[in-house]
Amino acid sequence: MRLLRLMAVLLFIALPLTAVAAEKAKSIDELAKMYDVSSCKGCHTKIYEEWEKSYHASSLVGSPRTMATIASAVKDGILKEWTKSGAKEVKDIKVEHMLSCLKCHLPQIKDATDAVAQEIAKAAIDGAAGDDAAKAKLKKLGINCLTCHNHKALIHKWTDGEPEAGVIYGNKEGAHADAKFKSLKKSPIMKESILCGQCHGLGPNFDLTEPTQCATLYGSYLHAYVPSGGNKTCQECHMTKGHFMPGYRDPEQAKKAVTVSVDATGYYFLPKPGDSQPTAKVTVKMLNNAGHRIPDG
Ligand code: HEC
Ligand code: HEC
Ligand code: HEC
Ligand code: HEC
Ligand code: HEC
Repeated sequence: MRLLRLMAVLLFIALPLTAVAAEKAKSIDELAKMYDVSSCKGCHTKIYEEWEKSYHASSLVGSPRTMATIASAVKDGILKEWTKSGAKEVKDIKVEHMLSCLKCHLPQIKDATDAVAQEIAKAAIDGAAGDDAAKAKLKKLGINCLTCHNHKALIHKWTDGEPEAGVIYGNKEGAHADAKFKSLKKSPIMKESILCGQCHGLGPNFDLTEPTQCATLYGSYLHAYVPSGGNKTCQECHMTKGHFMPGYRDPEQAKKAVTVSVDATGYYFLPKPGDSQPTAKVTVKMLNNAGHRIPDG
């Protein structure tokens, strides 16, 4: 028994935080500081500015439809319709509840305490009700350089291990000039669609206690685009403008999405003498050029 208990304690201690975190953040500000990327701006200025404008950078606010929908997931879901969630008020909310959305919208939540989950839930509700300070608070957090270049850079942990502290994963190995992230290592997936697939969804999130479904586009990429001969990666289509990674909100990207051709022939048809019917045959062909279903979600 005692051995079992000791093993349980050891297991608990060994529970991995991500490489970025030494101990869990207790507030939004602490979590933002833990994932601070302001040092990257000085040397990677162009990339930083592209990223800053992307939806990744404000993944709790979005258009700001995301903030409003997170607010209703909390109010109408967790606190109301999901009657067995164990949470009746914001103060009962735990990280696990918020994973329904934050699994993809803010994966670094796993380095935070329940207090941060509550702070985010409250800020989303207040922000959706028009409180600009709450919205600004949510904008401190997002999918940033460290999410892709550390946290999500290794998928197969039994093959590649856990992402290491102080390492930036990219396409090469060597020293790195950043004061905190001093080395560069090669990520096997940095150029592969699976990097993006971790959040861009396969279908319902069956791994969650209360499965939700939001983005599902990686599923259609794998099961429709690739089998019909598609051979481009997400990066090849979406990183032509660097780290801005636009969807349909970019007019140029939207123009590429669908090709429409219309072929029309007009003619007369005569059912009986003196009774001619003007008739037209219209053939419309729409071709989806994206590497997946559109729109998604
Ligand atoms: C003092 C300048 C400096 C700072 C600060 C800095 N970098 Fe770098 N970074 C570089 C240089 C220079 C290279 C290219 C190294 C090489 O080619 O050998 C690089 C390379 C990289 C690469 C790899 C590129 C590849 O080809 O695979 C990534 C990713 C990266 N940095 C991300 C970051 C992130 C994220 C931060 C902030 C946490 C950051 N950098 C901070 C200078 C900097
Ligand atoms: C499987 C990962 C995943 C989960 C879980 C998830 N989302 Fe998303 N969500 C995304 C991705 C990726 C996008 C953007 C791409 C897209 O629309 O295909 C997105 C887009 C959105 C958008 C549209 C953004 C806009 O402003 O137009 C809203 C709203 C949204 N999510 C809300 C939520 C809420 C609320 C939850 C929890 C109930 C949630 N999501 C759970 C991955 C996820
Ligand atoms: C959504 C994921 C994602 C985020 C967020 C992200 N990156 Fe990247 N980054 C990539 C991918 C993927 C590549 C590799 C593209 C390729 O090689 O085709 C890359 C390449 C790079 C490179 C090397 C190639 C180049 O364009 O010079 C640098 C440097 C870099 N990123 C820095 C950053 C910095 C700094 C930030 C934050 C401001 C950041 N990245 C945020 C996914 C991301
Ligand atoms: C850590 C999770 C995560 C990763 C990894 C990730 N994304 Fe995203 N992405 C999101 C979420 C969440 C949003 C939506 C944010 C919002 O609007 O609320 C999004 C938004 C986008 C959008 C904008 C959608 C729109 O409606 O305009 C594009 C395009 C996109 N991602 C492409 C990529 C590509 C390409 C990669 C890989 C290089 C990638 N993403 C990696 C989570 C992720
Ligand atoms: C062959 C090129 C191509 C490939 C490959 C591709 N996309 Fe797209 N994607 C597009 C185009 C074009 C659009 C714009 C569609 C529109 O205007 O609605 C788009 C739209 C999107 C959107 C916005 C969807 C929406 O409903 O708003 C997201 C998110 C996205 N792509 C992510 C990805 C990810 C992640 C991958 C890899 C799994 C990927 N794309 C692969 C071309 C591509």
